[in-house]
Amino acid sequence: MTGAVTIVVLVYLLIQTGAGKDSSLWLINEGREYIEAPRWADIGIVVVMLIFFYNVVATFSKGKWSGIAGVLTLDLVALAGLYVAGMFYMTNITHEQFWWWWVIHLWVEATWEVLVGVIMAWSLMKLLGVRRQIVTTWLYIEVALMFGSGILGLGHHYFWIGTPEYWLTIGGFFSALEPIPLVAMVVHAMYDAGSHSFKNSNHPAVAWIIAQAFGNFFGAGVWGFMHTLPQINMFTHGTQWSASHGHLAFFGAYATINIAFFYLAIQHWRGDVWMNSDTANAWRWKWALGLLNVGVVGMTVALLIAGYEQSFIERAVEGSTWGGYFSAQNHPSFQSAMVWRWFFGLMTFSGLILLIWDLLTIGKGETRKAQEIVEH
Ligand code: HEM
Ligand code: HEM
Ligand SMILES: [Fe+2]
Repeated sequence: MTGAVTIVVLVYLLIQTGAGKDSSLWLINEGREYIEAPRWADIGIVVVMLIFFYNVVATFSKGKWSGIAGVLTLDLVALAGLYVAGMFYMTNITHEQFWWWWVIHLWVEATWEVLVGVIMAWSLMKLLGVRRQIVTTWLYIEVALMFGSGILGLGHHYFWIGTPEYWLTIGGFFSALEPIPLVAMVVHAMYDAGSHSFKNSNHPAVAWIIAQAFGNFFGAGVWGFMHTLPQINMFTHGTQWSASHGHLAFFGAYATINIAFFYLAIQHWRGDVWMNSDTANAWRWKWALGLLNVGVVGMTVALLIAGYEQSFIERAVEGSTWGGYFSAQNHPSFQSAMVWRWFFGLMTFSGLILLIWDLLTIGKGETRKAQEIVEH
């Protein structure tokens, strides 16, 4: 897997020149943002997903099925199935974009969010000892709300790509409801954590889980909501506003929970050792947590200021003209926002280096065992 990703990235960086032919689609780059991977890698991804799916189902079949396991299994079917919508080539750009968003939107705003709900439900039980019945009930509610708003919320990407006008109403309405399950998720996580007094055996993991609850709510829920109505999106579409939302949402919803799970895995790998705030060299995970979160929030705010300026000058004042684009790009408030974005980008990067260092070393030489967390 790592080898395949390395080859895709190196080819992408080094060989991406010359005419676009059928063979470039198969070997170099498929050309769709986020799913650029060439066709050979696409097929590889599907195979890996199927193996993963088999592992999950086979594991549960041997042990015990639960509500959480059922949601996970059904979600993985939808998640893998959607990938296929990005695997055929269409000559009409509207058709092409129409199907492309099935993968991108329905992944991040439906199937991945459900996956996060599943992981969160499990973490709350495992890390804090919350009762299974409570997390399962919440999970069902969250999933129903998520699919209820997220599936037709897809319409917020169909405003300006040449699809029929009814998408303005459908997309605006349903995507405006999308923050509701995210509110439910944050309330649920905070309530459970609070009522179990945050007692747990892996402090870095819980800290990142909390970062997830807030990051998901603000990045996806609040930042998404800000530009999701067509009346607003007409001005903000494709500006740095989208990049501001994209960064906080991806980091807040998905990077954070991955990092939490790296800490859980490392703890287990080192033999279920003590991993609290007084663990050796704890400054590393605390500084990594601080630098990464402050860095990404700083980048988000800088990009939002740039996006606001673009929407105002390029779109509202100058009416989306080519000249308007350049006056927005050359405006001092845009340029200084981009300097701040660079500054916070460096902060994020230094947090990442520290995080990698910490993940490679935390728990080494630790002899104390983690305390047992019991359900209550
Ligand atoms: C974790 C969940 C989410 C992630 C990871 C995410 C990520 C992104 C990204 C990367 C883009 C830019 C796409 C492009 O390249 O054009 C985008 C666009 C957009 N997102 Fe989200 N998003 C999430 C949830 C939401 C939610 C809940 C809403 C609405 C309430 C929303 C509203 C939008 C809108 C309206 C756009 C289009 C921006 C434009 O017109 O340029 N997103 N999202
Ligand atoms: C050192 C920190 C980072 C730097 C310097 C950086 C830089 C960039 C740049 C230059 C773009 C292109 C923006 C454009 O097309 O206008 C971009 C896009 C993007 N980045 Fe980052 N990034 C950083 C961290 C992150 C992190 C932590 C995440 C998520 C976990 C992330 C996710 C994304 C996404 C989803 C897009 C596409 C957004 C869109 O198309 O609107 N980036 N980034
Ligand atoms: Fe979307």
